Amino acid sequence: MEVDRDYATFIEKIKKKTGIDLSLYKEAQMKRRLTSFRDKKNYKNFTAFFDALTKDESLLEEFFDRVTINVSEFYRNPKRWEVLEQKILPQLAKGRSRLKIWSAACSTGEEPYTISIILSRSLKQQSFSILATDLDDQALKQAEKGFYFERSLSDVPKEILRSYFMKNEMGYVIRDDVKKPIQFKKHNLLADSFDGNYDLIICRNVMIYFTEEAKNELYQKFSRALRPGGFLFVGSTEQIFNPSTYGLEAAEPFFYKKNQFLN
Ligand SMILES: C[S@@+](CC[C@H](N)C(=O)[O-])C[C@H]1O[C@@H](n2cnc3c(N)ncnc32)[C@H](O)[C@@H]1O
Repeated sequence: MEVDRDYATFIEKIKKKTGIDLSLYKEAQMKRRLTSFRDKKNYKNFTAFFDALTKDESLLEEFFDRVTINVSEFYRNPKRWEVLEQKILPQLAKGRSRLKIWSAACSTGEEPYTISIILSRSLKQQSFSILATDLDDQALKQAEKGFYFERSLSDVPKEILRSYFMKNEMGYVIRDDVKKPIQFKKHNLLADSFDGNYDLIICRNVMIYFTEEAKNELYQKFSRALRPGGFLFVGSTEQIFNPSTYGLEAAEPFFYKKNQFLN
């Protein structure tokens, strides 16, 4: 197969400049997205496009937006959250005084806030901590604000809106006690190290963008980061076909339990 030198060099330069290795994202998809963005901005090749990115901060930000795709929502795939609340949490909480949770690739915060709301309904607030990470600084800034327009909350049950948000003229702000257990932090899943001993890792709707090799490596790392008996919760198009390879077993659709006997 012919190598596209222009694109390959661009990928190398972006890695040097930003630390983001685009070669670990599915190539056809990423290249299509970036080529259409480059064309829209009227650059005839990736060499010229990279030069422009180094000179124009706002173009670089727009470029990041293209790469990251921040779409998220509260209670995304509601049935899965019911399973978490009714079947997984009771198993996790048994005999534990504190749960350590990681929402990996949390985008603008809807996912970690959903977890925090669900946990606060069944556990005491001091009994869990949530690390919420993403590659994208802008998304994290928005997440930390905890402000959402009404239209993005249309699927949130009215009773939850009333209990866990404060309404202002512009929209809704998440309540401080929902925020308190969450620490937001920048983290690149494909480059940074992972902490360990998690009871629950939630990583949804980002693996679909990665190559098979990158996914394989990530599942290994997630498995190592879980405590024995901990759970990995993945997106609704992201089932793992060979979980035992990673020391995991399918517990419920899209929930994988780390083998009790592994460390
Ligand atoms: C579609 S959103 C998913 C948000 C949320 N998990 C959900 O399911 O609603 C994908 C997120 O993955 C983040 N992302 C992409 N590559 C990443 C990487 N290498 N490390 C960490 N986060 C990454 C993006 O910035 C984006 O916020």
